[in-house]
Amino acid sequence: MMHLVLADSELELIPEKIAGHPSVRGYRSRILDSSLHHNAMKSLKGGYRRGRPDIVHISLLVAMESILNREGMLRVYIHTRGDTVIYINPETRIIKNYGRFKGLMQQLLERGRVPSNGEALMEARNETLAQLLEKLDGRKILFSPEGKRGSMGEIMEEDVVCIIGGFPHGDFLSPVYDMADEVVSIYHEVLPAWTVVMEAIVSYENKFIFRQP
Ligand SMILES: C[S@@+](CC[C@H](N)C(=O)[O-])C[C@H]1O[C@@H](n2cnc3c(N)ncnc32)[C@H](O)[C@@H]1O
Repeated sequence: MMHLVLADSELELIPEKIAGHPSVRGYRSRILDSSLHHNAMKSLKGGYRRGRPDIVHISLLVAMESILNREGMLRVYIHTRGDTVIYINPETRIIKNYGRFKGLMQQLLERGRVPSNGEALMEARNETLAQLLEKLDGRKILFSPEGKRGSMGEIMEEDVVCIIGGFPHGDFLSPVYDMADEVVSIYHEVLPAWTVVMEAIVSYENKFIFRQP
């Protein structure tokens, strides 16, 4: 099983501090989005990296539509800067439309689960990254451009926890370096989170589904 954790993801509701700002008031969605709210975000601590639901959206599309997920060998978790962990049911099909996806995320963060009745497709719990990682079995690989250069194929193990930053700039906010068994760089440049998600999943598929040498 591969557990995929998008850590310190920049997904959150619009903070109270900027809710009345003119660049925020005109929008219906209550999800912070730097492409819309950048003016107001200048006054937020860490505003240069916050408000990136697109990173979560694209990463989820890549992961949930993968062969690995179809084979039942993938579990995905989104950990956010506010220490919420979103548990994704493997049956979930991610909405392709970005606006509707943000609407769903708003519902999830406000109500704790979607849909509100029946089996939950996504559930949001108040949990730190440490509390999540403690529960997951497998070698914990932290992906970082600052890590030791390694080959994806070699580092993958049958039970593995892949930790990838769900943020655009800067470093992990959670003390994740203490929790990882290994810190690995897969390329000499910084890559977007979804590319690392894709590379990790494809390497795992090649090694444990297609059994390529
Ligand atoms: C856009 S990067 C975040 C940038 C940030 N400066 C950093 O150093 O983590 C998103 C995430 O993708 C992963 N990543 C990006 N480039 C990588 C690389 N060359 N090797 C391994 N992981 C990488 C890391 O998990 C990173 O947190």
